[in-house]
Amino acid sequence: MRTASAPGKVILFGEHFVVHGSPAIVASIDLRATAIVELARSGGVRLRDGSRGSPAVRAAEYILSRLGASAGLVIEIRSKIPQSVGLGSSAAVAASSSAAALHLLTGRVDHSLILEASYEGEKIVHYMPSGMDTSIATFGGSGLYTRSDGYRRLDIGLEEILVVNTGRQRRTGDLVLRVREFSEKKPELFKQLLDEVGRMIMEGLDYLRSRDLEKLGRLMNRNQEFLRMVGVSSPEIEEAIALCLEGGAYGAKLTGAGGGGCVIAVADPDKLDKIIPVVSRRFEVFRVRLGVDGVRIEQP
Ligand code: MEV
Repeated sequence: MRTASAPGKVILFGEHFVVHGSPAIVASIDLRATAIVELARSGGVRLRDGSRGSPAVRAAEYILSRLGASAGLVIEIRSKIPQSVGLGSSAAVAASSSAAALHLLTGRVDHSLILEASYEGEKIVHYMPSGMDTSIATFGGSGLYTRSDGYRRLDIGLEEILVVNTGRQRRTGDLVLRVREFSEKKPELFKQLLDEVGRMIMEGLDYLRSRDLEKLGRLMNRNQEFLRMVGVSSPEIEEAIALCLEGGAYGAKLTGAGGGGCVIAVADPDKLDKIIPVVSRRFEVFRVRLGVDGVRIEQP
């Protein structure tokens, strides 16, 4: 038996546009998915609870095929990451199950193989994933992601953030398609937005470096305007943002695919707890730590 865990993530800037080539700023969060993998008597990979079509199963199958192994595996998932709300739960589940399977069969942790396996796993729930979620689940920390160059780890200097769960689950693939349709209908406008997002990311890195949370917050509000324009906001998201701002956040935006899911908000660390009661009148809200470890083997 082997146990591994991997973190969820928040995207601070650049979701959706990253799928079309612009950069994004992303950070792991201290909510983790854990996979417990055991050898089974019969071949094939399955989840202990019998459910099918899981990124965890696909990722472990990929490991078996790359090793040329025919072992049977049973996987149990225990996750603290809410599902289908933009916090990278499927990538974390895929990374933890592939790491546990690989370590059980070989005694090794090979991050680039785990990344490949997780990407295969995530394809089940995702339409043309950028690879960002699986990179952060595998390597942890925080940094800059582009489709062309992958993940570059950077210390973003932001330690905590608020995450509001609107409770509305949605499929990332559907929202990625929605943005693609927008890009096809309005190619010139979309190109302008992409360029703007690229500049926004550089500005965001500057504010992170100088720890200017007020400017960072305003930039998040601007990023949210773009996400609204391409059609991935929702009434719940707008309501959650309004409550964060009412509570004193400098800025707030959706994180992940949108259409429901989660909102993030920035404020001075001593203000974060004061925003919570304002938002929790309506939504689940938690304070998360950023930049935690990537996939790792755990003691059973
Ligand atoms: C999902 O967490 C982020 C998106 O940009 C999709 C992706 O990057 O694969 C919406």
